[in-house]
Amino acid sequence: MAASSSITTSSTTSKLLFTSSSTSTAARLLPFTTTSSFKCRAFHFHRHRFNPLLHVHVGPFKNPRIVFTHSTNRPPSSFVSAALATEASAKVIDGKKVAKEIRDEVAAEVSKMKEAIGVVPGLAVILVGDRKDSATYVRNKKKACEDVGIKSFDARLPEDSTEEEVIKHISGFNNDPAVHGILVQLPLPSHINEQNVLNAVCIEKDVDGFHPLNIGRLAMRGREPLFVPCTPKGCIELLHRYGVVIKGKRAVVIGRSNIVGMPAALLLQREDATVSVVHSRTKNPEEFTREADIIISAVGQANMVKGSWIKPGAVIIDVGINPVEDSKSPRGYRLVGDVCYDEAIKIASAITPVPGGVGPMTIAMLLSNTLTSAKRIHNFK
Ligand code: GUN
Repeated sequence: MAASSSITTSSTTSKLLFTSSSTSTAARLLPFTTTSSFKCRAFHFHRHRFNPLLHVHVGPFKNPRIVFTHSTNRPPSSFVSAALATEASAKVIDGKKVAKEIRDEVAAEVSKMKEAIGVVPGLAVILVGDRKDSATYVRNKKKACEDVGIKSFDARLPEDSTEEEVIKHISGFNNDPAVHGILVQLPLPSHINEQNVLNAVCIEKDVDGFHPLNIGRLAMRGREPLFVPCTPKGCIELLHRYGVVIKGKRAVVIGRSNIVGMPAALLLQREDATVSVVHSRTKNPEEFTREADIIISAVGQANMVKGSWIKPGAVIIDVGINPVEDSKSPRGYRLVGDVCYDEAIKIASAITPVPGGVGPMTIAMLLSNTLTSAKRIHNFK
């Protein structure tokens, strides 16, 4: 039975065809004995040599899609030239654009709330130590708050702060009525027990969604967390806003971190996907990813997911932000995802770029969670 899905973009309402049943069958039958990198279109074709009868679906793709429906030994030569003249290109999921739309929506709501009841949502951020990356994230979060009219509070504590000192700051923010959301930037220095710190955030202000009660509720059927972790929430929001059907699909999450992988898998399951989690101890992870209609990768390994790991027509959400050496870049490096983008874009039906995909969504979701918290605390609809 064909299980085709469609993708619509909120802004264009264009339809993307998933290359569903026929290609999933083809994908399962493919020998995948070639190397994972597709250097040219001819090679791309060569990879499918046992499934050569082509159908070209012309949708909103810039170029026709190549779909295989059944096997013979060689493609007719006219199809070979057609394949060489065309190249499938996935829809690029524009996280930057969606995040801007969400920030604008939050800004409008914040100003409505201020006007109606005189309350300004407040977010407190606690940063312990001097990790450069964490300092950058915190700076970006503060700036994003200012831009939408959320008041930000911060506590910057030295690397050698004690757990008690960190928890004292959390308690202060728990009791401050001007603060509606509390975020402790992770990772914490290794001498501090992360669990004790996260447990100290009151769940009504846990806008990161990392409190075990919120995570526990996320995992349980029939229970509702007060907040959902921002990055995985952003991944699901992208799928929703691009009209990707999740219900009944096979999804693979690569990585099982508390911040992204684990909650992403729980969220997909709540959306009625059938979910596999692939992690560092998984044998032959590509066998799982090749079955997936939706891949969320959050593993932090540059270009780990090759084209040969991807089922044709899959939707790919790449959470990884990994620096790789690049002598052509003024900084000497550039950022890439977990997924080999150049290969994946020829096989997937939609993909998030790095940068500009999931990254901007994390902060947008944090702002949205902070607004939700302020509304809930003040019973403002
Ligand atoms: N470190 C990396 N990602 C996150 C996040 O989403 N929240 C917090 N608090 N720390 C992080």
